[in-house]
Amino acid sequence: MEDITARLADLEVRRARVMAGGGEERVARQHAAGKLTARERLELLLDPGSFLELDQFVRHRATDFGMQDIETPGEGVVTGSGTINGRPVYVYAQDFTVMGGSLGEMHAAKICKVMDLALKTGVPVIGLNDSGGARIQEGVAALNGYGEIFRRNTHASGVIPQIAAIMGPCAGGAVYSPGLMDFIFMVDNTAQMFITGPQVIKAVTGEEVSAEELGGAVTHATRSGVAHFRTPTEEDCLHLIRTLLDYLPANNLEDPPFRPSSDPAERQNPNLAALVPVDPNKPYNVKEIIYGVVDDGLFLEIQSEYAANMVIGLARLAGYTIGIVANQPQYLAGCLDINAADKAARFVRFCDAFNIPLLTLVDTPGYLPGVEQEQGGIIRHGAKLLYAFAEATVPKLTLVLRKAYGGAYLAMCSRSLGADHVVAWPTAEIAVMGPDGAANIIFRQEISQAEDPARVRQEKVAAYRDKFANPYVAAGLGLVDAVIDPALTRPHLIRNLLTLLSKRESRPGKKHGNFPV
Ligand code: HXC
Repeated sequence: MEDITARLADLEVRRARVMAGGGEERVARQHAAGKLTARERLELLLDPGSFLELDQFVRHRATDFGMQDIETPGEGVVTGSGTINGRPVYVYAQDFTVMGGSLGEMHAAKICKVMDLALKTGVPVIGLNDSGGARIQEGVAALNGYGEIFRRNTHASGVIPQIAAIMGPCAGGAVYSPGLMDFIFMVDNTAQMFITGPQVIKAVTGEEVSAEELGGAVTHATRSGVAHFRTPTEEDCLHLIRTLLDYLPANNLEDPPFRPSSDPAERQNPNLAALVPVDPNKPYNVKEIIYGVVDDGLFLEIQSEYAANMVIGLARLAGYTIGIVANQPQYLAGCLDINAADKAARFVRFCDAFNIPLLTLVDTPGYLPGVEQEQGGIIRHGAKLLYAFAEATVPKLTLVLRKAYGGAYLAMCSRSLGADHVVAWPTAEIAVMGPDGAANIIFRQEISQAEDPARVRQEKVAAYRDKFANPYVAAGLGLVDAVIDPALTRPHLIRNLLTLLSKRESRPGKKHGNFPV
């Protein structure tokens, strides 16, 4: 009778062949390009020894263009499950050493399998992308593979967190799987994403652009807003994914992980008041306020280099994950514009889908005026933010720091959009518009007919400021629940958050709303 030993030896040989990926030479090329291999990446991403591989022996079924003679170890993608800080995740990592990580029918099937498992089990899915795109030899079968992935990305949206890291090329329609996911990480210099590459662009439009300028990490982190995080190295990228996941629940039916800290809930911060100049025209860095309020001053900013007039990110209060949305008076005076509205709206919807309470910090003079904004569709894009806040059913806390004027006041999670608790500092100015503009309009005649128009104008501005440029008119209407000493911000927000954690709110049943995309 045949001994199992031979079978085991055969298994080892087969396994070793898969583990070797595209072979020593291609691995060396990968390293020389400043990139890790798929397996090295998974080792850094997952808790040590936690990786459980699937489908090592999947083979392609293509026969055209000599494919019947080509072996593709692991089919160019390593898939499976593992843990991050002890919590399960499903993962796939494209192996560029095997036919450039190109996606064929069976490569796609491996990815679809882990996505299906992730969705069934309510576990996040993380994709490490490094691929030449659709495997050209497989034609429409490869294309169909992408379609299968896109459909799953869409169905998983709002159910499990989906995270994409781009660690090499990601071109053509392949970009749309990351594009449909919740967060995109890109690595400096090696990651590139574009629908049509430099050569096609040159042929069609005559424009000359390098691949890096067209779709590198800097471009997508600063200009297009496609990338949420940009890191200098792959190690940083994988580490940052672990940090991000630690704020998130595994699925939409769970609460985010509770991480108690030694930072006291009742901690007062007497330095906060001095950070916000009373003069409404003076800029300051709203992130300083965030650092001064949240647990241990830890704030994971998202899209930090894009639409810097709006700050978004994750932090904790008394151990509970919160999503923060804040105007940034340091850029464009904290005006709302198209990009800021897009950025914040998508984040608000993410938080709402994953049971993450929202804290909104308000200091905005209004919408950015300009032909470019109007013709660019600020009405359509700005509507996203209103929609996202009004739709959200998670606890919504709003803190008005200083200016909250007009439509922008409403858009920044005002009481009327459904904020559960609105608190203001004494520096808050909640009004239909700034005192200068308001006086010019309502006292126009008096000012123009006065002997000394400048003096009268000044008086009228002062009168308007006295009456409306404070939080008390809004507080008088119950639109602001409390006006507090800035030093007490942290304990005040925490007490309210703890009360609101049991909030349950539902909307009328419908297939889905018509979000103003
Ligand atoms: C088959 C591919 C491939 C692909 C790369 N390879 N891309 N094989 N299909 N799409 C192979 C190469 O032939 C090569 O094999 C190996 O992978 C490594 O590639 P290199 O070119 O040597 O690497 P590099 O110089 O780093 O260049 C990487 C690259 C380039 C920029 C990605 O390979 C490239 O331009 N590939 C084609 C990209 C593309 O046009 N893809 C199809 C897009 S259409 P050997 O054996 O020589 O080592 C698409 C539609 C998707 O994706 C639509 C979804 C809706």
